[in-house]
Amino acid sequence: MYNDNPTLDLQEHNKVIDESKQGEVFFQEKPVDEADKKRFYIESYGCQMNFSDSEIVASILAETGYVSTRNMEESDLILINTCSIREKAEDTVRKRLRIFDKIKKKRPGTLVGVLGCMAERLKTKFLEEEKLVDMVVGPDAYRDLPNLIAGADDGERSVNVLLSREETYADINPIRLLSNGINGFISIMRGCDNMCSFCVVPFTRGRERSRDAYSIVAEAANLFEEGFREVTLLGQNVDSYKWAAPDDSESVNFAELLERVALVNPDLRVRFSTSHPKDITDEVLHTIAKYENICNYIHLPVQSGNSRILELMNRTYDREWYKERVQAIYRIIPDCAISSDMITGFCTETEEEHQDTLSMIEYAKYTLSYMFYYSERPGTLAARKYEDDIPLETKKRRLSEIIHLQNKVSLEHNLKDIGKTFKVLIEGDSKKSDQDFKGRNTQNKVLIFSKKEGLKPGDYVQVKVTEATSATLMGELVDRVD
Ligand code: SAH
Ligand code: SF4
Ligand code: F3S
Repeated sequence: MYNDNPTLDLQEHNKVIDESKQGEVFFQEKPVDEADKKRFYIESYGCQMNFSDSEIVASILAETGYVSTRNMEESDLILINTCSIREKAEDTVRKRLRIFDKIKKKRPGTLVGVLGCMAERLKTKFLEEEKLVDMVVGPDAYRDLPNLIAGADDGERSVNVLLSREETYADINPIRLLSNGINGFISIMRGCDNMCSFCVVPFTRGRERSRDAYSIVAEAANLFEEGFREVTLLGQNVDSYKWAAPDDSESVNFAELLERVALVNPDLRVRFSTSHPKDITDEVLHTIAKYENICNYIHLPVQSGNSRILELMNRTYDREWYKERVQAIYRIIPDCAISSDMITGFCTETEEEHQDTLSMIEYAKYTLSYMFYYSERPGTLAARKYEDDIPLETKKRRLSEIIHLQNKVSLEHNLKDIGKTFKVLIEGDSKKSDQDFKGRNTQNKVLIFSKKEGLKPGDYVQVKVTEATSATLMGELVDRVD
């Protein structure tokens, strides 16, 4: 799910995300009568929140009379929704801007805009030094896009990178651009108030704020009506979701929000990402256990298995705390799957401390992990306070060790599923064959099985697992649970 992010492509298991790849292109096929409208092309990088934002942008642009296209050569407006999380992600964006610049030269009048997390950091550079773009728009300024486009059309270089304490785009109905019509993503909050020392997100996305609970439930109900059968509630730290009605008559925490969304319909699966180990409560775990349609899967990034490194990272929990949360999950939701994010080679990390991350993979029995080596980000606490002193080869070697171990642990986890039968939501054709369907079980594991007449994406089926790899389960349809 990232082009750089965990939740992006849920099949991208246990991989280092390749941030040098081209971003995801969003578009919607349009009827001919819209052929004479202005066209925009949008490429998105980074996490699911950024992808979700691209759908908000599409909605705002639709109001202004734009339709989406997948062909940048024919577009009037080229947008790139950017990510800053690691250096490689930023490098890719720079390369893309040079390509867009060539199109601008071929088609004068085409506007190029930089959106998202790189906007704030690089506003002056893009506009003044490199002169590659016409607009720079930060994540809280998308409502201003129509004005900025008008300004850019008049030859101004338009910038709005103001971060807001209130903006949640609660009233905007996102256009589901690249959706399979089954899995919908709903942003429930924006920004982040944690100050993990390695992380750029609090600087690029600003302060944490929670969206109106009623608008979230309404969006989930709307998606269900449209045929969607799964929603993923998105936030950098969903466990700190807290919304209070303007008149203070009620307040809703994350456990209560989960419950409200689960009650939309028992056939609507509910997932969420990301949970923070310091904030995930037993109340949330009991809510997951209580509702069959809240999936038994928690993405609980550990980052490091070592307490000293966790302290330097400012994660505000230690190894023991994390282990206790893992135990609580397995106690309250026995068949829950847990996944993680990990960073190797953080400042001053020793070999012994690295071993603690390896042992945590075995302790927590992660079903999958997104693993990275540390990339220093300008302006972060770590960049200001600590030396990025682990040689690149060491970072990479440690990374390959954790990937290797995680693959082994994932495979062991999956092999235990052989012979078991799972309720699976069909999501579409398998990547390899249109004779097979792909779906997921509650634990977020991907299952592949032969198609049968009468079945379609959005249906729930029972699948018995016959084979397993570290990333996928293969199975066959059965009529009932054993
Ligand atoms: N809010 C989520 C993480 C969002 S960023 C959380 O707190 O878990 C997604 C992942 O990118 C992080 O979990 C972390 O593993 C990784 N990451 C963030 N900053 C990084 C950096 N400077 N270098 C390498 N990986 C980083
Ligand atoms: Fe970054 Fe930490 Fe916030 Fe996650 S919780 S977005 S890692 S600062
Ligand atoms: Fe997401 Fe990248 Fe921004 S991970 S929040 S798009 S820096």
